[in-house]
Amino acid sequence: MVTKEDVIALKKTKNAIILAHYYTLPEVQEVADFVGDSLGLSQKAAQTEADIILFAGVHFMAETAKILNPSKKVLVPDMAAGCSLADGCDPDELAEFMKDYPGYKILAYINCTAKVKTMADIIVTSGNALRIVDSLPKDEKIVFVPDRNLGDYINRQTGREMELWHGDCCVHARWSAAKVAQLKQAHPEALTIAHPECRREVLECADFIGSTAAMLKYVASSPAPEFIVITESGILHEMQKQNPGKRFFSGDSECICRTMKMNNLENIYQALRDEKPELLMDAETIEAAKRPILKMLELS
Ligand code: 13P
Ligand code: SF4
Repeated sequence: MVTKEDVIALKKTKNAIILAHYYTLPEVQEVADFVGDSLGLSQKAAQTEADIILFAGVHFMAETAKILNPSKKVLVPDMAAGCSLADGCDPDELAEFMKDYPGYKILAYINCTAKVKTMADIIVTSGNALRIVDSLPKDEKIVFVPDRNLGDYINRQTGREMELWHGDCCVHARWSAAKVAQLKQAHPEALTIAHPECRREVLECADFIGSTAAMLKYVASSPAPEFIVITESGILHEMQKQNPGKRFFSGDSECICRTMKMNNLENIYQALRDEKPELLMDAETIEAAKRPILKMLELS
């Protein structure tokens, strides 16, 4: 059985950095050099001096790391770790969709494939979307892809009327107002915090809405002792670690991102040892996808 110590020793020998999302398994977060939200992970990927980046997350996140570091080796423990948002926005279908919106800019949530990024004018994450949209001219015509729930939330917060692609996150979209009401009934004193990938009826029940990193910040600065956490439950590991005296309640096994959990100590160790599977991308896609990501990083 591969231990935490085995992975830590191997990553040092290889001059590798492990980047992990908050939704990965606790043991994966424990061997990572950096655990973060999509924005933090892309910022970290842009800065690293390591020769190898092992990305414990999902495929589009590893692609972002490769786009920002084309000369580095980017390893992905399981290439099948996808995301319903990225998978639900095919570039050819998007090109067809855009024929109805001449003169519109494409604002793409980072949860999309590299090919879709090449079509975008600017990328956003849930951590910077409101700020970036607010910085655009008020009369800018925008198509937002691929998350209709995040897009709807941005429209309501900024007063925009962006046209929305029809995708959603299969984990966050499963939350319902009824499910939140059940948790509130069981924990009436708790504050409710939610991720903007949730549907409107769920966000309307929340005391705070933000990205995974924003939720962590909110919990740390709030005097409240109890929280209902409406996102993927992997975040509870870091939340509990940072706030040992507070109590957190979340959904059941339905609220788990299956593909984030495909990363484990065994396949991380093997990937580092064998330096594969390696994520390879053509130079043209990297160049075209980098432009809207750099624009986002400038504005973040
Ligand atoms: P953030 O970590 O940016 O909040 O995104 C959540 C998510 O669903 C990542 O796939
Ligand atoms: Fe994609 Fe949702 Fe999983 Fe995040 S939680 S990786 S948005 S499927």
